[in-house]
Amino acid sequence: MNKIIIKANGPLVALGKIRVEDKDGNTITEDDEVYLCRCGHSANKPFCDGAHKEHGFTDAAHIQDDKSEPASGNDPLCITIRENAMLIASGPMSIQNEEDSFQTTRNKAALCRCGHSDNKPFCDGHHKTCGFTAA
Ligand code: FES
Repeated sequence: MNKIIIKANGPLVALGKIRVEDKDGNTITEDDEVYLCRCGHSANKPFCDGAHKEHGFTDAAHIQDDKSEPASGNDPLCITIRENAMLIASGPMSIQNEEDSFQTTRNKAALCRCGHSDNKPFCDGHHKTCGFTAA
């Protein structure tokens, strides 16, 4: 099954059959390992370019609300980039930290990429109030 690894103080790492698409459904990349910015500072969004380090992004990679649902199988994970907003991941996935000590399974998830959600790794709507802009 696909995995989204939450790197502490760093990006989301999507592993599996990953397809990233823009808001119009055009494929940006298809790969088995994709590093996605979640700090909001990458100059190469939606991908991580290492800017989280110089911007001092901090997040402990805990999953705060567990709305786990059964998810399994080998279907691809499609990650859609929402303009000025979150990432929408669709497909069977586990979302976890690097140590595997926090984990949830989902078939759909809205993931923060502005760096300001109080419910990371999930979106809580903060992109609207923090002025996040990204195609
Ligand atoms: S998480 Fe690495 S640049 Fe944003």
